[in-house]
Amino acid sequence: MSTSVVNTGYQNTVAHSMQTAANCIIPEDSSKLSIIDVEKFNLDFALKSLKQDNVVLVENVKPADADRIILSIAEELGLKESLELQAAFASINGFRENVGQYFMSVNKRSDYEFIPPHSEGNSTTNMQIASLYSYENSTDGGESVLMNIDQDGSAWQCLREVAPRIKIGTRPLTQNEIARAKLLFKVDANVDILCDEDEILRKIDTKNLGFELYEVLTKPKLKYSQILRKDVRVYWDSVASCDHDSAQEYLQFLKNSGLLKEPETELPLEKMDNATGRRVWSSGVMFNGLFKSKITRKLVSGDLIIQNNLTWTHSTANWTPGSGGRQVVAAFA
Ligand SMILES: [Fe+2]
Repeated sequence: MSTSVVNTGYQNTVAHSMQTAANCIIPEDSSKLSIIDVEKFNLDFALKSLKQDNVVLVENVKPADADRIILSIAEELGLKESLELQAAFASINGFRENVGQYFMSVNKRSDYEFIPPHSEGNSTTNMQIASLYSYENSTDGGESVLMNIDQDGSAWQCLREVAPRIKIGTRPLTQNEIARAKLLFKVDANVDILCDEDEILRKIDTKNLGFELYEVLTKPKLKYSQILRKDVRVYWDSVASCDHDSAQEYLQFLKNSGLLKEPETELPLEKMDNATGRRVWSSGVMFNGLFKSKITRKLVSGDLIIQNNLTWTHSTANWTPGSGGRQVVAAFA
């Protein structure tokens, strides 16, 4: 086994940040946003838009209607159970609180913090749709930036996902061991197998369960989109949030777009990036090789966004502390 241990840290980041300024331009494409007032909303319009890989924006939605609309879309796509499951798990994980029936609070953030783009979850989760609902955003920023993944982009050569992988030893695993791997570590022992291309980050303590498990950087796999009925590449949180260059790119993007809010005394990137503690390597990713277009929207009270979580990422610009209130909640299915 020639699997290598990755050289973590900022090895490429300085060179990357010098290249990135000129490159981080993603065209705004308002034709990809299907807007409808709640009074005229109908399910066919939403489903047709999603099947064209558009983002749906329903305006003037009341909280109870947001629940009703997301449920009707989830039901139609065979994702009702997933919607209920995500809502049930929201508060168990401790980061979020349930708001209404299916929505949950977004992660708390500190002053000037932004959320770089990602699709919710990782390749073992099956969150096909993402939805945002705005109670208010009276701050001087906090724009939602939705980016459409370029399936043929050059970035896919360099991206990796952080994931657990089992090392196959000299004997096959027993059914009991396979079940424990699944239950305790969410690992499919028949699929998630350590291979030569994987770069090991650390050994995971399996408490003598009979198999060796490693956290690795591995090539992202394709995922089947139930909306588009085809396999797609996904910029999962587990791909985006392990990569220093993702934060660098987003910082540069916000600067170029005039969306970055900064205090008088300059803040380092680590203080503004909400995923800073999870970044372990630098991929060299350039957003213009990853995203083909974007939609920028400062959500107002009653805005409901529904998007394909696999082909569209979500991100949020920062704002000046004390400039207003912002309550945007999310649902996933
Ligand atoms: Fe998210």
